[in-house]
Amino acid sequence: MALRIMSTVISIICFFFFTKSFGEPTILPGQPTHVSFKQYSGYIVTDAAHGRALFYYFVEADSAHPLSRPLTLWLSGGPGCSSLGEGAFTENGPFQSKDSGHLAKNIYSWNLESNMLYVESPIGVGFSYSNTSLDYISWNDTTTAEDNLKFLLNWLEKFPKYKHSDLYLAGDSYAGHYVPQLASLLLEYNRKPDIRPIKLKGVALGSPLLNLDISMESADDLWSHGAISDETLMLEKTICKIPTYYKELFVYKNLSKECIDVFDRINGEIGDDLDRNDLLSFKCLPSSRAEQFRARATNPMAKGTSAADPCLSDRVLAYLNRPKVQKALHAIPVNWSFCSGPLQYQMDNVDINIIPVVSDLLKSNISIMLYNGDQDAKVSLSQTRIIANTIAKSLKLVPLTSYGPWYDNKQVGGWAQSFGKLRYGKNVTYLTFATVRGGSHGAPYTSPSQALTLFRAFLSASSLPTPKVA
Ligand SMILES: *[C@@H]1O[C@H](CO)[C@@H](O)[C@H](O)[C@H]1NC(C)=O
Ligand SMILES: *[C@@H]1O[C@H](CO)[C@@H](O)[C@H](O)[C@H]1NC(C)=O
Ligand SMILES: *[C@@H]1O[C@H](CO)[C@@H](O)[C@H](O)[C@H]1NC(C)=O
Ligand SMILES: *[C@@H]1O[C@H](CO)[C@@H](O)[C@H](O)[C@H]1NC(C)=O
Ligand SMILES: *[C@@H]1O[C@H](CO)[C@@H](O)[C@H](O)[C@H]1NC(C)=O
Ligand SMILES: *[C@@H]1O[C@H](CO)[C@@H](O)[C@H](O)[C@H]1NC(C)=O
Repeated sequence: MALRIMSTVISIICFFFFTKSFGEPTILPGQPTHVSFKQYSGYIVTDAAHGRALFYYFVEADSAHPLSRPLTLWLSGGPGCSSLGEGAFTENGPFQSKDSGHLAKNIYSWNLESNMLYVESPIGVGFSYSNTSLDYISWNDTTTAEDNLKFLLNWLEKFPKYKHSDLYLAGDSYAGHYVPQLASLLLEYNRKPDIRPIKLKGVALGSPLLNLDISMESADDLWSHGAISDETLMLEKTICKIPTYYKELFVYKNLSKECIDVFDRINGEIGDDLDRNDLLSFKCLPSSRAEQFRARATNPMAKGTSAADPCLSDRVLAYLNRPKVQKALHAIPVNWSFCSGPLQYQMDNVDINIIPVVSDLLKSNISIMLYNGDQDAKVSLSQTRIIANTIAKSLKLVPLTSYGPWYDNKQVGGWAQSFGKLRYGKNVTYLTFATVRGGSHGAPYTSPSQALTLFRAFLSASSLPTPKVA
């Protein structure tokens, strides 16, 4: 099946190979008038011999002097989901897709703070491709990180003025694997002689998969939200023998019949109409759209903002598949999708423990923010907090703030704690853990204002706003 898709992709590529240069300015069909920042999109070749190229969408900072702002590279997770569709068009990019192909400004876009580079990675995701069909088979974390590093180095050759910029890496979900591994390769690259080191400053991860056994354990969270029964929680804890069953499910594929039954029971109790990404999610029902928003509209956090729209992904899918849009993006015409590309990822890689990688980044003075929506039942906040606390303890980072609420627009945005240590006689924040109240698995989608506040604090290496400064 995957191979069949691949041959189609290759034939499309052969017919539509393009002559335009890469990195052309982009004007998106339906974008608002008076867009004050520049956008670029296209391909960066990562392996000329194989014919591999990754697609990027670069949005300059919305500032009179974009170069005074840092550069942030965003990766969405999966493995195999699109940073363009999820990161840029659903979470924190400059525009929101409206009806009939029209784009509205996202007033909480992360390009208010930083130049944003969204990369569709690895190959087979979105518009990214390889001309060598064998590349699509048993692709993994190592090859992803290596290709992402080549992407970044080649991208900086195309946009050399950003070589001097402070660099931040951000992403969510499976980017908990991609981002720390790319950061680690970058630091290795920086140690080479005769190169200009890349100024990597920090890493922000939302609802990250960092350790399969810890990150994916969500039964207690589902139970405390009332989404599963007492009995089912008890069965999960006894029959599924935490903490190995996610390995049995994803890696060995030998999960016992009894545990599969518990899984089915959990799914049955949660119900078909709720998305585990977001325990507050609504279904996209075209006929009663206004009603769907009632719960969120009464939430003061959502006032004046566009609350998470359950129909957004349908519009993004339609928009990114419009031939005019693909042309404007300088993309090779394909059947674009959020996640279902031809890539066959080596699924045993989901079990790689990323905690030591994150610890090594901290030891190299790279600051880290781990944030987690509190309505995310895929990666629950409690699990990300366990990981943050474990890392802080093992690296002897001391709490620089007490655990407590942080603020966004005079409202509690969530709860947070920062850890750090003395550097040249001053306390410096190394690790921040923050929850996002009302936030989903992709918190900037449900909670755009809070997410922008988190991002701003992360870039300025300052602690999160408290009531006095909110
Ligand atoms: C892939 O093949 C097409 C058709 O031959 C070609 O136009 C394109 O440049 C190749 N891509 C890369 C990255 O070499
Ligand atoms: C990924 O694949 C490459 C080449 O196929 C292999 O050398 C490497 O060990 C693999 N990495 C992991 C983490 O599985
Ligand atoms: C699944 O396979 C792994 C590795 O071979 C083994 O350790 C584990 O006990 C197996 N689990 C079941 C339920 O068969
Ligand atoms: C595009 O891909 C989607 C999802 O993989 C599939 O359902 C659809 O049929 C495809 N459309 C075309 C025109 O190939
Ligand atoms: C991290 O910063 C400390 C200063 O607190 C310095 O001594 C150390 O060499 C730095 N480590 C790296 C890998 O840059
Ligand atoms: C650094 O933070 C620790 C823990 O909060 C505190 O005890 C110490 O006094 C602080 N040191 C400085 C120099 O601010």
